[in-house]
Amino acid sequence: MASNCFTKILCVFSLLVVTAYTKPPNIVFMVADDYGWNDVGFRNPDMITPNIDKLAYEGVILNQSYVQPVCTPSRNAFMTGVYPFKAGLQHLVILPEQATCAPTNRTFLPQYLKKLGYATHALGKWHLGFCKWECTPTYRGFDSFYGFYNGQETYYNRTVVGGIDFRDDKKAVLPDVTKYSTYIYAERAKEIIEKHDQDEPLFMYFPFQSVHEPIEVPVSYENMYSGIKNEGRRKYCGMVTAMDDLVGNVTAALKENGMYDDTLFVFTADNGGWTTFHGNNYPLRGGKATVYEGGTRATAFITGAGLMKKGYTYNGMMHAVDWMPTILSAAGGKPVDTDLDGIDQWDSLRTGAPSKRTEFIYNLDDKNPPICGHAAIRVGDYKLIEGYPGAYPGWYKPETVSEQNPDTGSTKHEQQPNILGRELFNLKDDPYEHKDLSLIHRDIADQLSKRMAEYHAQMVPANFPGNTASASPKNYNGYWTPGWC
Ligand SMILES: *[C@@H]1O[C@H](CO)[C@@H](O)[C@H](O)[C@H]1NC(C)=O
Ligand SMILES: *[C@@H]1O[C@H](CO)[C@@H](O)[C@H](O)[C@H]1NC(C)=O
Ligand SMILES: *[C@@H]1O[C@H](CO)[C@@H](O)[C@H](O)[C@H]1NC(C)=O
Ligand SMILES: *[C@@H]1O[C@H](CO)[C@@H](O)[C@H](O)[C@H]1NC(C)=O
Repeated sequence: MASNCFTKILCVFSLLVVTAYTKPPNIVFMVADDYGWNDVGFRNPDMITPNIDKLAYEGVILNQSYVQPVCTPSRNAFMTGVYPFKAGLQHLVILPEQATCAPTNRTFLPQYLKKLGYATHALGKWHLGFCKWECTPTYRGFDSFYGFYNGQETYYNRTVVGGIDFRDDKKAVLPDVTKYSTYIYAERAKEIIEKHDQDEPLFMYFPFQSVHEPIEVPVSYENMYSGIKNEGRRKYCGMVTAMDDLVGNVTAALKENGMYDDTLFVFTADNGGWTTFHGNNYPLRGGKATVYEGGTRATAFITGAGLMKKGYTYNGMMHAVDWMPTILSAAGGKPVDTDLDGIDQWDSLRTGAPSKRTEFIYNLDDKNPPICGHAAIRVGDYKLIEGYPGAYPGWYKPETVSEQNPDTGSTKHEQQPNILGRELFNLKDDPYEHKDLSLIHRDIADQLSKRMAEYHAQMVPANFPGNTASASPKNYNGYWTPGWC
């Protein structure tokens, strides 16, 4: 009797302990490469992305979520919560033979998550430098890495600039070259999920190879868009649907293993679609590598565990630097560094409350005008661009039917004369940047210019070295390999 009672008390007690302990959510952070604003089914009915659409509709579609104009800087912002112009990463991207990487004196998001008990995995494209091992994913907080270090490569033989680029953790490997890489990543993701010890929360950082050029896709996906005459656009759309299948397979694996309901998903493009390679941002202006909205306003959503309000579009301002403190907050943590640019937006996203952000820097890059030499800031509804906005200043419709059809827009991407002055837009009234107000509202332009100068004073010089010959894969059995800086 007495022992029975004791057991009962113990049971009740352990029940209380169990209810009181809530394991942090699993987090899947998906980054779609060069993915256009207008390349998703929830915005463009011509696109076949049922898995992405379903996740987005069930969650919160982010309508004003901004990223950097190109890959490396956005990724550094995601990992560190710091503006690229303070990390020396404001100029273009890290190239294969450049002896540099994301500054190693910053704590990366997975390093914080490990302290909270997370298992951390990265799959896909790194693009934060690899000239020494200290720069690579498994030295920067990830338990495992499966993917490539450079900014792009082929989807079958996995080569870039004359070298193979693929790693399983630190090991150079070349997965089956007859298999499209999207399948390979899906298989590895499934394996990670199946093997995961569910006593621990899981963090999967999944920077997809898709849909960056080269434009390669299995014909079965291309055939889903047989109505599109333009071959490049047809294949690009197929790549998008292959990526969508990958998203579907990741969610299916989480469901099969009973993890889905405890998972928070973040999905964002790293920059706008690259119009030269058939990405599309219409009706936004410009594209990848411009500070216009088409280069910087990302297709993005958040969905899953922890959100209290779902199924709507959020119009609050988010920026790439916010993801690090926001994801960390969702996991129950907080950055130690107090000098971050990122704002913890978890409460706003979770409840639908107004964004805590009222301004941000699109980029500040002084180097080599006119190739870059651009600066842009948003304060409230206004946006000021100073210098050269980038090579794609137009409004490009998708190449849907034929290359010549005037109704389906221009496929011409010739550079326009450099605009080296300044442009001011009211994004509330004019989200597509048709009407430059810089001569009408000189006072507002001056105010924004002054604010931008305050940020500029915090800039560190762009770290953009020349090529290092010893980087050559010839020195490393044909593989791009750390060890030359
Ligand atoms: C981190 O390194 C960068 C260059 O890589 C340097 O500019 C910066 O001052 C360093 N910051 C700290 C806090 O040590
Ligand atoms: C790898 O594939 C690309 C096409 O994606 C092709 O152009 C290249 O020749 C191939 N390289 C090797 C070494 O097979
Ligand atoms: C997704 O899973 C299905 C079923 O296992 C498989 O047939 C398909 O090839 C997978 N797709 C991708 C992109 O991995
Ligand atoms: C998204 O933003 C655009 C302005 O760029 C606006 O016209 C549209 O109404 C917003 N969508 C929703 C659903 O709020």
